Amino acid sequence: MSLTRNAAIRVVSPEPTDLPLGIAHGDQATVAELTAGLLAPEASTSPKYLYDSLGSKLFEAICELPEYYPTRTEAAIFARHGADMARRIGTRGTLIDLGAGNCAKAASLFPLLEPKQYVPIDISRDFLNEAVSRLRQRFPQIMMEPLALDLSGEFRLPGSVRSAARTFFYPGSSIGNFAPHAAIAFLRQVRENCGADGGLLIGVDLIKDSTVLDEAYDDAIGVTAAFNLNMLRHLNHLLGADFDVRQWAHVAFFNAEESRIEMHLEARRALTVRWQEGERHFARGERIHTEDSYKYTADSFASLLKDAGFAVQDVWTDDAGWFAVMHAKACSE
Ligand code: AVJ
Repeated sequence: MSLTRNAAIRVVSPEPTDLPLGIAHGDQATVAELTAGLLAPEASTSPKYLYDSLGSKLFEAICELPEYYPTRTEAAIFARHGADMARRIGTRGTLIDLGAGNCAKAASLFPLLEPKQYVPIDISRDFLNEAVSRLRQRFPQIMMEPLALDLSGEFRLPGSVRSAARTFFYPGSSIGNFAPHAAIAFLRQVRENCGADGGLLIGVDLIKDSTVLDEAYDDAIGVTAAFNLNMLRHLNHLLGADFDVRQWAHVAFFNAEESRIEMHLEARRALTVRWQEGERHFARGERIHTEDSYKYTADSFASLLKDAGFAVQDVWTDDAGWFAVMHAKACSE
């Protein structure tokens, strides 16, 4: 019977980690960056590698989870206070969307902010161009200037971006992925690109009960676990590595001292991972640090903004005080 034969084959099958090495699809800089992170005493990878095409879909699914409050809470703040935001920011300006993705959040503000020009910025040019071609049909009166830019490091906006009344839009608490010193450096760059009358509209996730935070990053049906574990499939593709996803577990928790959610992948048993540029042994329980998501109080974030050259003008929050949308103006130097 084939059933018994299959069972016999399973017994003699090789260890699940002995997968053949694949072809590395990442460019040289990517392979070097990942290799350095994986070989560091405390292994880590940049959270940007969570977003291959499946990872982006899993993140969209996370945003629908009952436990993941940030997306829904921020949307409610925009819906409730959008008109007030437009009054405070002013209409007919230049709206610059940092990490725009599908541009949906900014588009929901178009009827109120009525920007003259919309400048969505994202690393993924194809995704961006597709989103913008749809938006052009819905909002023909708005000039659209999509930019495929990597915002890590120094950046200068091209002359095609109108210089008058620039508002930088950074929703979703994406700023939380930066450690505070790096967040200040990034926002200083934004400040440099603001011009005299520029400003910032930014979403910030706030410190709250740690059970709420823990569950938001470790949901009951395991979507966030899949999102985190999918990083290993992506690394196999980029590095030609032989990560066996089944040997790893999702770990996420609020680290109160550092005021951040940490996500890790933990080896379920002792194992060795190999890729073209290296190999590493992981003891059982050893982790790869895959993401930080920093949480602030409205005051602590206002002080961070001040260090970056911005002065807070307005803070809008939900009734529970779980999330804040902050409007800040560039200070003159
Ligand atoms: C996209 C960085 C805002 O930190 O909440 C969600 C990413 N990670 N669940 C966040 C994320 C796990 C998210 N940001």
